[in-house]
Amino acid sequence: MSLPTAVRRRVFLGVAVAALIAAGCKPSGGGAGTGTDIPVGEFASLTGSEAAFGRASHNGTVLAIEQLNAAGGVLGKQFKLITEDNQSKDGESATAVKKLISRDKVVAILGEVASGRSLEAAPICQQYKVPQISPSSTNPKVTEMGDYVFRVCFVDPFQGTVMAKFAAKTLRAKKVAVLTDVGAPYSVGLGTFFKERFVADGGTVVAEQKFTKDDKDFKAQLTAIKSQAPDAIFVPAYYGQVTLIVMQARELGITVPLFGGDGWEAPELLQGPGAAAALEGCYFSTHFSPDQDSPRAKEFVKAYEAKFGAKPDAMAALGYDSALLLSDAIKRAGSAEPEKLRPVLAATKDFDGVTGKMTLNDKRNAEKSAVIIGIKGGKFVYTETVNP
Ligand code: PHE
Repeated sequence: MSLPTAVRRRVFLGVAVAALIAAGCKPSGGGAGTGTDIPVGEFASLTGSEAAFGRASHNGTVLAIEQLNAAGGVLGKQFKLITEDNQSKDGESATAVKKLISRDKVVAILGEVASGRSLEAAPICQQYKVPQISPSSTNPKVTEMGDYVFRVCFVDPFQGTVMAKFAAKTLRAKKVAVLTDVGAPYSVGLGTFFKERFVADGGTVVAEQKFTKDDKDFKAQLTAIKSQAPDAIFVPAYYGQVTLIVMQARELGITVPLFGGDGWEAPELLQGPGAAAALEGCYFSTHFSPDQDSPRAKEFVKAYEAKFGAKPDAMAALGYDSALLLSDAIKRAGSAEPEKLRPVLAATKDFDGVTGKMTLNDKRNAEKSAVIIGIKGGKFVYTETVNP
């Protein structure tokens, strides 16, 4: 009886790894795609508290890989995407990435959305010299982990500046409160960058309150905020808690706008009884809007809708761009060897992604524009684009 190919492959790999260990060798870093395909690793939060992020980003990546393969792949080979789910759990990303590198010999790692989880994987990619491309982690520390770590999105000092200016100009806020998730590097960073800019521009932060990941009751923090009568409340957090925070704010009679960053962006933000009404007139910044007026974006929106039956959001678009950038770098390098890809990725210039043209700066971050989305009539409505 013959084994199915996937099982056979696992068995073979298992034997190979066991042989290496027996020989006293540490499994080496990623492979060069020496077979007929180029193995690409992805780690994502496909289940758990941030699953909406992981699934959207994963869908974008899958679409890109499919299109690339349909167009003949690269260097005469097809891409093979191998995805590991970290279940939105701390500690799982490092294990997932180790597996992808040692067992699957991937040439590069795509992931993650949440900065905290990209930060977990980065030291491993750095140690094994396998390039990591984060689609949408915006905390500056992610790429500071080493020269093998890249991203296709902007960073939070920029996002914080965008929202500080928006608060002062469009919301006409002079006094703001900030409510931060102290367990998430993304939240702490974005909160700090926002504050620095808002204060430097003459605004006042009248209250600073904190919570942690598993909190469900924010009434104490919101009551303290209410007593300071801010003109608006900045909540740099992830969508699951944002909905609860905004609804509880309304219950406490807080009527001012709440606003945040890309962590707000998931259809789940507006789901549940009363959520959309509570969020009316709130705003957040992000990387992409399907209503953006660029031919490249329109083509992508069409293909994504045809495949998944829903409009792509920023995570989907960035997941797509991360795979396209990798393919482009392999083509430019004429090789899929991880160590040859590194300098070529670092030299990325004017790469044409669906989220805009990107050039990676000396910190391996993309310098790109942000979009601001408002919640109007229970929908996400594109409001404006802000250039760096
Ligand atoms: N930027 C967020 C982070 O670094 C993740 C995110 C990206 C969320 C894009 C939504 C959209 O953790």
